[in-house]
Amino acid sequence: MKVTIVGAGAVGASCAEYIAIKNFASEVVLLDIKEGVAEGKAMDLLQTASLNGFDTKIVGSTNDYSKTADSHIAVVTSGIPRKPGMTREELIGINAGIVKDVVSNLIKHSPDVIVIVVSNPMDTMTYLTHKATGLPKNRIIGMGGALDSARFKYRLSEALGCPASDVDGMVIGGHSDTGMVPLTRLAVRNSVPVTKFLSEERLTQVAEDTKVGGATLTKLLGTSAWYAPGAAVSALVQAIACDQKKMFPCSALLDGEYGLSDICIGVPVILGKDGIEKIVEIELSDAEKAKLKESAEGVKKVNALLQA
Ligand code: LAC
Repeated sequence: MKVTIVGAGAVGASCAEYIAIKNFASEVVLLDIKEGVAEGKAMDLLQTASLNGFDTKIVGSTNDYSKTADSHIAVVTSGIPRKPGMTREELIGINAGIVKDVVSNLIKHSPDVIVIVVSNPMDTMTYLTHKATGLPKNRIIGMGGALDSARFKYRLSEALGCPASDVDGMVIGGHSDTGMVPLTRLAVRNSVPVTKFLSEERLTQVAEDTKVGGATLTKLLGTSAWYAPGAAVSALVQAIACDQKKMFPCSALLDGEYGLSDICIGVPVILGKDGIEKIVEIELSDAEKAKLKESAEGVKKVNALLQA
């Protein structure tokens, strides 16, 4: 199983590291436009192989897409990241051109590839990838909900005073500070609804902290985060590579599901060897439906900027 990661910045490199450490891929190709950076990070990572006990081959390349040939999965992290105070949406002008170019190069060398889009504004970049390539919709996946859900579980564990492994929860909707819809009603601590332990007020705080999870880190770090994004991408890659049939909220092209069409937005999907094998329609409350609708309107506004 060969995996290409385009963009050897912090997110791309961290994703490569997690994939290597989990030892399920035969080869990871790290590609970047900055001369030597991907080669350097690949070599640095390979020098951890004997320490961390993995056998994955890691190849670095400066923009030579022939090295990516016959990839099963490609992760697109290219583009500029957020600076403090910026929204993900403000990146659209620069990142749209980059993502289009990257995806067309990838498909040229790997016509059957499954693409995971990470570049921001992610839902719009996923939609753009559909429009630009016309690939079957199961083969284009936007990474946002897996990360936002991990941040939700972190905030829940903080509020509950327990490890994150004790909680489960999901964030659907757009991957933006205003678009995320943390499903607090469905979140559980070892099968018990968290509403049994936390007040409505505390849960609202958890949801609000989750929604600005990326912005909080951007402010602290001076650029956007990488460990949790890298780990979230690697979980999606593993689900596909190992045909796990796991459920994650991902940005998927909708065609009537949740009453939405012609949009990529975060909804629960089943990931397996064919990419998005199923979109799962769960029963939402009226309030959650209204929030998802509002989130979709926000994503559509950003999509409209693609034509501008
Ligand atoms: C974040 C970026 C990856 O949320 O969108 O950290």
